Amino acid sequence: MDLGLAGRKAIILGGSRGIGLYTARMLASEGCSIALCARQAEGVQQAVEQLRSVTSQTVFGSAVDLMDGPATCSFVSEAAGALDGIDLLIHNASGFDASGDEEGWARSFQVDMMAGVRAVETALPWLRASDAASITFIGSMASKFYFGRRSSYGPAKAAMRAYANELAQSLGKDGIRANVVSPGAVHFPGGSWDKVREAQPDFYRKVEQRIPLGRLGTADEIARVIAFVASPAGIWINAAHIAADGGQVAAVD
Ligand SMILES: NC(=O)c1ccc[n+]([C@@H]2O[C@H](COP(=O)([O-])OP(=O)(O)OC[C@H]3O[C@@H](n4cnc5c(N)ncnc54)[C@H](OP(=O)(O)O)[C@@H]3O)[C@@H](O)[C@H]2O)c1
Repeated sequence: MDLGLAGRKAIILGGSRGIGLYTARMLASEGCSIALCARQAEGVQQAVEQLRSVTSQTVFGSAVDLMDGPATCSFVSEAAGALDGIDLLIHNASGFDASGDEEGWARSFQVDMMAGVRAVETALPWLRASDAASITFIGSMASKFYFGRRSSYGPAKAAMRAYANELAQSLGKDGIRANVVSPGAVHFPGGSWDKVREAQPDFYRKVEQRIPLGRLGTADEIARVIAFVASPAGIWINAAHIAADGGQVAAVD
């Protein structure tokens, strides 16, 4: 199947490692030009070099903290300039609040929600000009089940789903789709679950056993779902919440 991604222009907020970088690689290998940001300049540089080794399309990277509103908007404008447009906007970064304290709630609100809002508002003129515009948020199954701690992480991802629906309903007339892809537990080298496997092997095994397929997902498997949902081939997926958890959350919907 042709995903229709060749020549498309994709921006990834939080794309220097993990699911964001796997998605960038997947999209680049399908012929997209890529703009990505992350806080650590070294990580951005390495990701840009890695992507340039798999694509001859434009790759643009910038060190940006998505807590910073003006810097987020400037990044999106600069990225649109570098790519000469925007077709796919993917918001992947998270504040990853585990504490549930004031600072964690503020970080979730700024990174998971407001960075997305600011990026969308800035990107709108370019998305409207695209004939295959999509906005994809990377959520979490923590938006629909209690995963063992009281924090802003799940609530922020749930708010993201309501916001994506608002975008889909209000921007459909402009040909812009909006969706949320929610991974369950995902293992990749150096990722959070890799650290859990190292530090708490018994707990990691229990999580594996609770997943019907008997293992955690991989970043590559999540990147494929994101690429399809965001691609022109996924045109009829709109205002949707897509679980990519291997059946980890044992619920009907
Ligand atoms: N991994 C899982 O099991 C899992 C499960 C469910 C949902 N998810 C969701 O999937 C997404 C990606 O998760 P991941 O595990 O791949 O994360 P990760 O490995 O920690 O990567 C996060 C990426 O976002 C960047 N980033 C983080 N905070 C940022 C900020 N304030 N400003 C700019 N960039 C920022 C990071 O680079 P810097 O650190 O350099 O900024 C990095 O490039 C998240 O939304 C997460 O909630 C993950």
